[in-house]
Amino acid sequence: MGEFISWNNLTVRPLSDTDRTWVRDLLAEHWGSSQIVSRGRLHDGAALPGFVAWAGGERVGLLTYCFESATVCEVTSLNSLAEGIGAGTALLEAVITMAREAGCVRVWLVTTNDNLHALGFYQRRGFVLKAVHNNALETSRRLKPEIPLIGMNNIPLRDELELEMLL
Ligand SMILES: CC(C)(COP(=O)(O)OP(=O)(O)OC[C@H]1O[C@@H](n2cnc3c(N)ncnc32)[C@H](O)[C@@H]1OP(=O)(O)O)[C@@H](O)C(=O)NCCC(=O)NCCS
Repeated sequence: MGEFISWNNLTVRPLSDTDRTWVRDLLAEHWGSSQIVSRGRLHDGAALPGFVAWAGGERVGLLTYCFESATVCEVTSLNSLAEGIGAGTALLEAVITMAREAGCVRVWLVTTNDNLHALGFYQRRGFVLKAVHNNALETSRRLKPEIPLIGMNNIPLRDELELEMLL
């Protein structure tokens, strides 16, 4: 898979082996560890495929994903290290393009009830709220005890919000 060049001098490239240590460190710093839990499943985030956004020779964002089946792709994480310059959008566009070309019919992801910013961000980019999984974080914490009780915006971290885009 080639590079995706977007506006604002951002370049998005598929993850390569030379990115792996950076991925592990970024996930640990932002999500407590490189283990990612969604819908009761534990992923080794540092081993997943993904995309890196680059700007001015620096890595400015990471998206990881996995194929749930041949036609369904889950975005397992998204982080921007330079918010507001288009990195998050470019990474999301890259995974959607990749999924479409791979023959996927659905791209989905979960965010959590405290993440008001992400809920708006995804909906503004065409994702639709599919389900609210109440108290899903109770299950997640059994798999990843470092998940905090209080999340962003000082909101109790409790539910998974499932968003999808049908391709
Ligand atoms: C959610 C997140 C990934 C967004 O990443 P980002 O790099 O800031 O995203 P973008 O820069 O593409 O877009 C952010 C805003 O900047 C604006 N923007 C982007 N490029 C711009 C530019 N060149 N000039 C002016 N505004 C710009 C966009 O309009 C967008 O606002 P909107 O959502 O109201 O449309 C980021 O906030 C983040 O990492 N959050 C913490 C981790 C997280 O919550 N991840 C998702 C959990 S599932």
